[in-house]
Amino acid sequence: MDTMLVYGSYGYTGRLVVERAIEQGIEPVLAGRDTAKLEAQATEWGLDCRVFGLEHSDIVAQHIAEFDVVLNCAGPFVHTHEPIVEACLSRGTHYLDITGEIEVFEAIASRSERAEEAGVTLLPGVGFDVVPSDCLASHLGNALPEATHLALGFDSLGAPSPGTALTMVEGLEAGGAVREDGKIRRTPPGWKSRSIDFGHRERTAVTIPWGDVSTADRTTGIPNIEFYMALPPQAIRALRLSQHLGPLLTNSLVKDGLRSFIERAIDGPDAEERQQGESRLWGEVSNGEERLIARLTTPNGYTLTAETAVESARRALDGETPNGYQTPSTAFGTDYVLEFDGVVRQDAREPTHSE
Ligand SMILES: NC(=O)c1ccc[n+]([C@@H]2O[C@H](COP(=O)([O-])OP(=O)(O)OC[C@H]3O[C@@H](n4cnc5c(N)ncnc54)[C@H](OP(=O)(O)O)[C@@H]3O)[C@@H](O)[C@H]2O)c1
Repeated sequence: MDTMLVYGSYGYTGRLVVERAIEQGIEPVLAGRDTAKLEAQATEWGLDCRVFGLEHSDIVAQHIAEFDVVLNCAGPFVHTHEPIVEACLSRGTHYLDITGEIEVFEAIASRSERAEEAGVTLLPGVGFDVVPSDCLASHLGNALPEATHLALGFDSLGAPSPGTALTMVEGLEAGGAVREDGKIRRTPPGWKSRSIDFGHRERTAVTIPWGDVSTADRTTGIPNIEFYMALPPQAIRALRLSQHLGPLLTNSLVKDGLRSFIERAIDGPDAEERQQGESRLWGEVSNGEERLIARLTTPNGYTLTAETAVESARRALDGETPNGYQTPSTAFGTDYVLEFDGVVRQDAREPTHSE
Protein backbone atom coordinates (compact mmCIF):
# COMPACT_ATOMS: atom_id res chain seq x y z
CA MET A 1 0.00 0.00 0.00
CA ASP A 2 1.16 3.56 -0.70
CA THR A 3 2.19 5.29 2.49
CA MET A 4 2.62 8.80 3.80
CA LEU A 5 4.83 10.09 6.59
CA VAL A 6 3.98 13.38 8.33
CA TYR A 7 7.13 14.77 9.94
CA GLY A 8 6.54 17.34 12.73
CA SER A 9 3.09 15.79 13.23
CA TYR A 10 2.63 16.96 16.83
CA GLY A 11 3.21 20.69 16.19
CA TYR A 12 0.23 23.06 15.95
CA THR A 13 -0.15 22.73 12.18
CA GLY A 14 1.02 19.12 12.06
CA ARG A 15 -1.88 18.17 14.34
CA LEU A 16 -4.39 19.93 12.04
CA VAL A 17 -2.85 18.13 9.07
CA VAL A 18 -3.10 14.72 10.75
CA GLU A 19 -6.75 15.32 11.71
CA ARG A 20 -7.57 16.39 8.16
CA ALA A 21 -5.79 13.35 6.69
CA ILE A 22 -7.82 11.03 8.92
CA GLU A 23 -11.04 12.84 7.88
CA GLN A 24 -10.03 12.16 4.27
CA GLY A 25 -9.51 8.46 4.90
CA ILE A 26 -5.69 8.62 4.84
CA GLU A 27 -3.80 6.97 7.70
CA PRO A 28 -0.43 8.71 7.81
CA VAL A 29 2.50 7.46 9.84
CA LEU A 30 3.51 10.15 12.37
CA ALA A 31 7.08 11.31 12.89
CA GLY A 32 9.17 13.75 14.89
CA ARG A 33 11.98 13.89 17.39
CA ASP A 34 10.07 13.96 20.70
CA THR A 35 9.17 10.42 21.83
CA ALA A 36 6.61 11.41 24.47
CA LYS A 37 4.68 13.86 22.26
CA LEU A 38 4.74 11.50 19.30
CA GLU A 39 3.61 8.42 21.22
CA ALA A 40 0.79 10.39 22.86
CA GLN A 41 -0.44 11.54 19.45
CA ALA A 42 -0.07 8.10 17.89
CA THR A 43 -2.05 6.52 20.75
CA GLU A 44 -4.78 9.18 20.49
CA TRP A 45 -5.33 8.43 16.80
CA GLY A 46 -4.36 4.75 16.70
CA LEU A 47 -1.59 5.46 14.17
CA ASP A 48 1.98 4.18 13.76
CA CYS A 49 4.88 6.50 14.51
CA ARG A 50 8.62 6.80 13.94
CA VAL A 51 10.82 8.74 16.36
CA PHE A 52 13.91 10.30 14.77
CA GLY A 53 15.76 13.61 14.72
CA LEU A 54 17.28 15.13 11.59
CA GLU A 55 20.96 15.26 12.65
CA HIS A 56 22.11 12.01 11.04
CA SER A 57 21.45 11.71 7.30
CA ASP A 58 21.72 7.89 7.23
CA ILE A 59 19.07 7.53 9.95
CA VAL A 60 16.75 9.99 8.18
CA ALA A 61 17.23 8.11 4.88
CA GLN A 62 16.54 4.72 6.52
CA HIS A 63 13.19 5.95 7.80
CA ILE A 64 12.22 7.84 4.63
CA ALA A 65 12.91 4.76 2.47
CA GLU A 66 9.74 3.08 3.79
CA PHE A 67 7.44 5.78 2.43
CA ASP A 68 6.10 6.99 -0.92
CA VAL A 69 5.42 10.55 0.30
CA VAL A 70 6.75 12.75 3.10
CA LEU A 71 4.79 15.80 4.20
CA ASN A 72 7.13 17.92 6.30
CA CYS A 73 5.32 20.14 8.86
CA ALA A 74 8.41 20.82 11.03
CA GLY A 75 9.43 24.45 10.76
CA PRO A 76 11.22 26.81 10.58
CA PHE A 77 11.99 24.77 7.46
CA VAL A 78 15.38 26.38 7.02
CA HIS A 79 16.44 23.96 9.80
CA THR A 80 14.57 20.86 8.60
CA HIS A 81 14.17 20.72 4.81
CA GLU A 82 17.68 19.69 3.77
CA PRO A 83 18.08 16.27 5.45
CA ILE A 84 14.55 15.25 4.49
CA VAL A 85 14.81 16.44 0.87
CA GLU A 86 18.19 14.70 0.48
CA ALA A 87 16.76 11.47 1.92
CA CYS A 88 13.77 11.72 -0.45
CA LEU A 89 16.06 12.17 -3.46
CA SER A 90 18.20 9.20 -2.51
CA ARG A 91 15.24 6.91 -1.70
CA GLY A 92 12.76 7.90 -4.45
CA THR A 93 10.18 9.46 -2.07
CA HIS A 94 8.05 12.47 -3.01
CA TYR A 95 8.64 15.53 -0.75
CA LEU A 96 6.05 18.14 0.23
CA ASP A 97 6.11 20.79 2.95
CA ILE A 98 4.30 23.86 4.21
CA THR A 99 7.19 26.31 4.13
CA GLY A 100 6.83 29.95 3.21
CA GLU A 101 10.56 30.70 3.45
CA ILE A 102 12.15 32.10 0.29
CA GLU A 103 15.56 30.54 0.90
CA VAL A 104 13.95 27.12 1.38
CA PHE A 105 12.05 27.36 -1.92
CA GLU A 106 15.24 28.42 -3.69
CA ALA A 107 17.30 25.62 -2.11
CA ILE A 108 14.71 22.99 -3.05
CA ALA A 109 14.26 24.39 -6.59
CA SER A 110 18.01 24.07 -7.16
CA ARG A 111 17.58 20.26 -6.82
CA SER A 112 14.95 20.06 -9.59
CA GLU A 113 17.15 18.25 -12.12
CA ARG A 114 18.16 15.63 -9.56
CA ALA A 115 14.51 15.16 -8.64
CA GLU A 116 13.55 14.59 -12.29
CA GLU A 117 16.31 12.02 -12.68
CA ALA A 118 15.16 10.30 -9.47
CA GLY A 119 11.48 10.34 -10.48
CA VAL A 120 10.67 12.42 -7.42
CA THR A 121 8.33 15.40 -6.91
CA LEU A 122 9.64 18.26 -4.78
CA LEU A 123 6.64 20.38 -3.85
CA PRO A 124 7.24 22.86 -1.03
CA GLY A 125 4.68 25.48 0.02
CA VAL A 126 1.45 23.46 -0.01
CA GLY A 127 -0.12 25.54 2.79
CA PHE A 128 -1.78 28.96 2.88
CA ASP A 129 1.64 30.17 1.84
CA VAL A 130 1.74 29.65 -1.18
CA VAL A 131 -1.24 27.71 -2.60
CA PRO A 132 -3.78 30.59 -2.91
CA SER A 133 -1.27 33.29 -3.86
CA ASP A 134 0.50 30.99 -6.34
CA CYS A 135 -2.81 30.15 -8.03
CA LEU A 136 -3.68 33.87 -8.09
CA ALA A 137 -0.29 34.68 -9.62
CA SER A 138 -0.81 31.99 -12.25
CA HIS A 139 -4.33 33.27 -13.05
CA LEU A 140 -3.08 36.85 -13.47
CA GLY A 141 -0.01 35.77 -15.43
CA ASN A 142 -2.25 33.89 -17.88
CA ALA A 143 -4.57 36.89 -18.20
CA LEU A 144 -1.71 39.27 -19.13
CA PRO A 145 1.06 37.13 -20.63
CA GLU A 146 3.35 40.09 -21.38
CA ALA A 147 3.15 41.40 -17.79
CA THR A 148 6.32 42.90 -16.36
CA HIS A 149 5.17 43.47 -12.76
CA LEU A 150 3.27 41.31 -10.30
CA ALA A 151 2.13 42.42 -6.85
CA LEU A 152 0.36 40.11 -4.43
CA GLY A 153 -0.92 40.62 -0.90
CA PHE A 154 -3.10 39.33 1.91
CA ASP A 155 -5.22 40.68 4.72
CA SER A 156 -6.47 39.21 8.02
CA LEU A 157 -4.57 36.00 8.46
CA GLY A 158 -5.70 36.09 12.12
CA ALA A 159 -3.54 35.12 15.07
CA PRO A 160 -0.32 33.22 14.23
CA SER A 161 0.62 29.72 15.44
CA PRO A 162 3.82 29.31 17.54
CA GLY A 163 5.79 28.02 14.56
CA THR A 164 4.65 30.89 12.33
CA ALA A 165 5.66 33.42 15.00
CA LEU A 166 9.06 31.75 15.41
CA THR A 167 9.60 31.57 11.65
CA MET A 168 8.72 35.29 11.35
CA VAL A 169 11.14 36.24 14.16
CA GLU A 170 13.90 34.19 12.54
CA GLY A 171 13.09 35.88 9.21
CA LEU A 172 13.42 39.39 10.71
CA GLU A 173 17.18 38.98 10.77
CA ALA A 174 17.25 38.66 6.97
CA GLY A 175 14.96 41.71 6.45
CA GLY A 176 12.60 41.94 3.48
CA ALA A 177 12.84 40.72 -0.11
CA VAL A 178 11.39 41.51 -3.54
CA ARG A 179 12.18 40.28 -7.04
CA GLU A 180 13.62 42.83 -9.45
CA ASP A 181 14.54 42.09 -13.08
CA GLY A 182 14.28 38.38 -12.33
CA LYS A 183 16.58 38.45 -9.29
CA ILE A 184 15.69 38.26 -5.61
CA ARG A 185 16.83 41.42 -3.87
CA ARG A 186 17.07 41.77 -0.10
CA THR A 187 15.45 44.97 1.22
CA PRO A 188 15.03 46.52 4.66
CA PRO A 189 11.96 45.22 6.53
CA GLY A 190 8.75 47.03 5.51
CA TRP A 191 10.55 48.52 2.52
CA LYS A 192 7.55 49.70 0.48
CA SER A 193 3.98 50.41 1.48
CA ARG A 194 0.82 51.11 -0.48
CA SER A 195 -2.92 51.18 -0.05
CA ILE A 196 -4.69 48.03 -1.28
CA ASP A 197 -8.39 47.42 -1.82
CA PHE A 198 -8.82 43.82 -0.67
CA GLY A 199 -12.48 43.85 -1.71
CA HIS A 200 -13.98 44.05 1.79
CA ARG A 201 -11.88 47.06 2.83
CA GLU A 202 -8.98 49.29 1.85
CA ARG A 203 -5.84 48.65 3.96
CA THR A 204 -2.31 49.94 4.21
CA ALA A 205 0.03 47.12 3.31
CA VAL A 206 3.77 46.64 3.40
CA THR A 207 6.22 44.42 1.51
CA ILE A 208 7.19 41.20 3.29
CA PRO A 209 9.50 38.37 2.20
CA TRP A 210 6.66 35.91 1.44
CA GLY A 211 7.37 32.71 -0.46
CA ASP A 212 5.90 33.98 -3.73
CA VAL A 213 8.93 36.20 -4.26
CA SER A 214 10.56 32.87 -5.10
CA THR A 215 7.70 30.75 -6.44
CA ALA A 216 5.77 33.26 -8.59
CA ASP A 217 8.83 33.61 -10.81
CA ARG A 218 8.70 29.91 -11.66
CA THR A 219 4.92 30.00 -11.98
CA THR A 220 4.62 33.10 -14.18
CA GLY A 221 8.08 34.16 -15.41
CA ILE A 222 7.18 37.76 -14.47
CA PRO A 223 10.49 39.47 -13.61
CA ASN A 224 9.32 41.96 -10.93
CA ILE A 225 7.44 40.60 -7.91
CA GLU A 226 6.38 42.21 -4.63
CA PHE A 227 4.34 40.66 -1.84
CA TYR A 228 2.35 42.84 0.62
CA MET A 229 0.77 42.18 4.00
CA ALA A 230 -1.96 44.46 5.38
CA LEU A 231 -0.85 46.05 8.64
CA PRO A 232 -1.92 49.09 10.67
CA PRO A 233 0.41 52.10 10.14
CA GLN A 234 1.87 51.79 13.68
CA ALA A 235 2.78 48.13 13.02
CA ILE A 236 4.47 49.18 9.77
CA ARG A 237 6.54 51.70 11.73
CA ALA A 238 7.50 48.98 14.23
CA LEU A 239 8.42 46.59 11.41
CA ARG A 240 10.68 49.25 9.89
CA LEU A 241 12.31 49.87 13.24
CA SER A 242 13.03 46.14 13.54
CA GLN A 243 15.93 46.53 11.10
CA HIS A 244 17.86 48.02 14.01
CA LEU A 245 17.30 44.72 15.87
CA GLY A 246 19.14 42.79 13.13
CA PRO A 247 22.48 42.50 14.98
CA LEU A 248 20.62 41.70 18.22
CA LEU A 249 18.75 38.85 16.55
CA THR A 250 21.98 37.10 15.60
CA ASN A 251 22.69 36.78 19.34
CA SER A 252 21.75 33.29 20.47
CA LEU A 253 20.69 34.46 23.95
CA VAL A 254 18.20 36.91 22.43
CA LYS A 255 16.96 34.21 20.06
CA ASP A 256 16.51 31.70 22.89
CA GLY A 257 14.63 34.33 24.91
CA LEU A 258 12.26 35.06 22.03
CA ARG A 259 11.79 31.33 21.37
CA SER A 260 10.85 30.65 24.97
CA PHE A 261 8.52 33.70 25.03
CA ILE A 262 6.75 32.39 21.91
CA GLU A 263 6.44 28.89 23.38
CA ARG A 264 4.89 30.31 26.58
CA ALA A 265 2.71 33.04 25.10
CA ILE A 266 1.44 31.86 21.70
CA ASP A 267 -0.99 28.96 21.34
CA GLY A 268 -2.27 29.65 17.81
CA PRO A 269 -5.92 30.21 16.86
CA ASP A 270 -8.41 27.82 18.51
CA ALA A 271 -11.06 25.85 16.59
CA GLU A 272 -13.63 28.65 16.85
CA GLU A 273 -11.19 31.31 15.63
CA ARG A 274 -10.18 29.06 12.74
CA GLN A 275 -13.79 28.43 11.81
CA GLN A 276 -14.77 32.11 11.91
CA GLY A 277 -11.57 33.47 10.39
CA GLU A 278 -11.31 34.48 6.78
CA SER A 279 -8.40 35.63 4.64
CA ARG A 280 -8.39 37.95 1.66
CA LEU A 281 -5.80 37.90 -1.08
CA TRP A 282 -5.25 40.46 -3.79
CA GLY A 283 -3.09 40.37 -6.90
CA GLU A 284 -2.20 42.85 -9.63
CA VAL A 285 -0.33 42.42 -12.91
CA SER A 286 0.69 45.23 -15.20
CA ASN A 287 2.75 45.81 -18.31
CA GLY A 288 2.90 49.63 -18.29
CA GLU A 289 -0.24 49.90 -20.42
CA GLU A 290 -2.71 47.55 -18.86
CA ARG A 291 -3.41 46.62 -15.24
CA LEU A 292 -5.45 43.62 -14.14
CA ILE A 293 -6.56 42.81 -10.64
CA ALA A 294 -8.00 39.65 -9.09
CA ARG A 295 -8.98 38.81 -5.52
CA LEU A 296 -9.51 35.66 -3.52
CA THR A 297 -11.50 35.02 -0.38
CA THR A 298 -10.38 31.94 1.56
CA PRO A 299 -11.09 30.31 4.93
CA ASN A 300 -8.69 30.93 7.84
CA GLY A 301 -5.08 30.31 6.80
CA TYR A 302 -4.54 27.30 9.12
CA THR A 303 -7.77 25.63 8.05
CA LEU A 304 -6.82 26.07 4.40
CA THR A 305 -3.26 24.90 5.10
CA ALA A 306 -4.48 21.57 6.53
CA GLU A 307 -6.84 21.07 3.57
CA THR A 308 -4.40 21.99 0.79
CA ALA A 309 -1.47 20.13 2.38
CA VAL A 310 -3.42 16.89 2.73
CA GLU A 311 -4.99 17.10 -0.74
CA SER A 312 -1.59 17.84 -2.32
CA ALA A 313 -0.04 14.88 -0.49
CA ARG A 314 -2.93 12.63 -1.51
CA ARG A 315 -2.31 13.53 -5.16
CA ALA A 316 1.37 12.75 -4.75
CA LEU A 317 0.42 9.38 -3.21
CA ASP A 318 -1.87 8.71 -6.17
CA GLY A 319 0.93 9.49 -8.64
CA GLU A 320 -0.74 12.69 -9.90
CA THR A 321 2.27 14.99 -9.43
CA PRO A 322 4.88 15.76 -12.09
CA ASN A 323 8.50 14.97 -11.22
CA GLY A 324 11.04 17.69 -10.43
CA TYR A 325 10.55 20.90 -8.48
CA GLN A 326 6.98 22.19 -8.65
CA THR A 327 4.94 25.08 -7.33
CA PRO A 328 1.33 24.30 -6.36
CA SER A 329 -0.05 25.70 -9.62
CA THR A 330 2.56 24.05 -11.86
CA ALA A 331 1.70 20.75 -10.15
CA PHE A 332 -2.10 21.05 -10.05
CA GLY A 333 -3.15 23.96 -12.28
CA THR A 334 -4.16 27.59 -11.94
CA ASP A 335 -7.61 26.80 -10.49
CA TYR A 336 -6.39 24.30 -7.87
CA VAL A 337 -7.25 26.59 -4.94
CA LEU A 338 -10.84 27.00 -6.19
CA GLU A 339 -11.44 23.31 -5.44
CA PHE A 340 -11.46 24.02 -1.69
CA ASP A 341 -14.63 24.97 0.24
CA GLY A 342 -15.02 28.69 0.86
CA VAL A 343 -12.52 29.86 -1.78
CA VAL A 344 -13.90 32.43 -4.23
CA ARG A 345 -12.05 34.37 -6.95
CA GLN A 346 -13.12 37.69 -8.46
CA ASP A 347 -11.58 39.53 -11.41
CA ALA A 348 -11.45 43.29 -11.97
CA ARG A 349 -9.83 45.31 -14.74
CA GLU A 350 -8.47 48.59 -13.42
CA PRO A 351 -8.22 51.73 -15.54
CA THR A 352 -4.65 52.70 -16.47
CA HIS A 353 -3.31 56.24 -15.95
CA SER A 354 -4.07 57.18 -19.58
CA GLU A 355 -7.78 56.17 -19.37
N1 LIG B 1 2.56 27.59 4.53
C1 LIG B 1 1.73 28.02 5.45
O1 LIG B 1 0.80 28.73 5.17
C2 LIG B 1 1.95 27.63 6.87
C3 LIG B 1 0.85 27.45 7.72
C4 LIG B 1 1.11 27.05 9.03
C5 LIG B 1 2.40 26.88 9.47
N2 LIG B 1 3.43 27.08 8.62
C6 LIG B 1 4.81 26.88 9.04
O2 LIG B 1 4.90 25.59 9.58
C7 LIG B 1 5.88 25.55 10.59
C8 LIG B 1 5.30 24.89 11.83
O3 LIG B 1 4.34 25.74 12.41
P1 LIG B 1 3.55 25.31 13.74
O4 LIG B 1 2.79 26.45 14.19
O5 LIG B 1 2.95 24.00 13.52
O6 LIG B 1 4.80 25.17 14.74
P2 LIG B 1 4.94 24.43 16.13
O7 LIG B 1 3.64 24.24 16.80
O8 LIG B 1 6.03 25.14 16.85
O9 LIG B 1 5.47 22.98 15.67
C9 LIG B 1 6.70 22.85 15.03
C10 LIG B 1 6.96 21.38 14.80
O10 LIG B 1 8.20 21.24 14.10
C11 LIG B 1 9.11 20.44 14.87
N3 LIG B 1 10.47 20.93 14.67
C12 LIG B 1 10.89 22.21 14.64
N4 LIG B 1 12.23 22.26 14.44
C13 LIG B 1 12.63 20.97 14.32
C14 LIG B 1 13.89 20.39 14.09
N5 LIG B 1 15.00 21.12 13.94
N6 LIG B 1 13.97 19.04 14.01
C15 LIG B 1 12.86 18.27 14.16
N7 LIG B 1 11.64 18.78 14.39
C16 LIG B 1 11.53 20.12 14.47
C17 LIG B 1 8.64 20.59 16.29
O11 LIG B 1 9.10 19.52 17.08
P3 LIG B 1 9.71 19.77 18.56
O12 LIG B 1 8.52 20.16 19.42
O13 LIG B 1 10.28 18.45 18.92
O14 LIG B 1 10.70 20.89 18.44
C18 LIG B 1 7.11 20.57 16.09
O15 LIG B 1 6.65 19.27 15.89
C19 LIG B 1 6.35 27.01 10.78
O16 LIG B 1 7.54 27.21 10.07
C20 LIG B 1 5.22 27.81 10.17
O17 LIG B 1 5.68 29.06 9.68
C21 LIG B 1 3.23 27.44 7.34
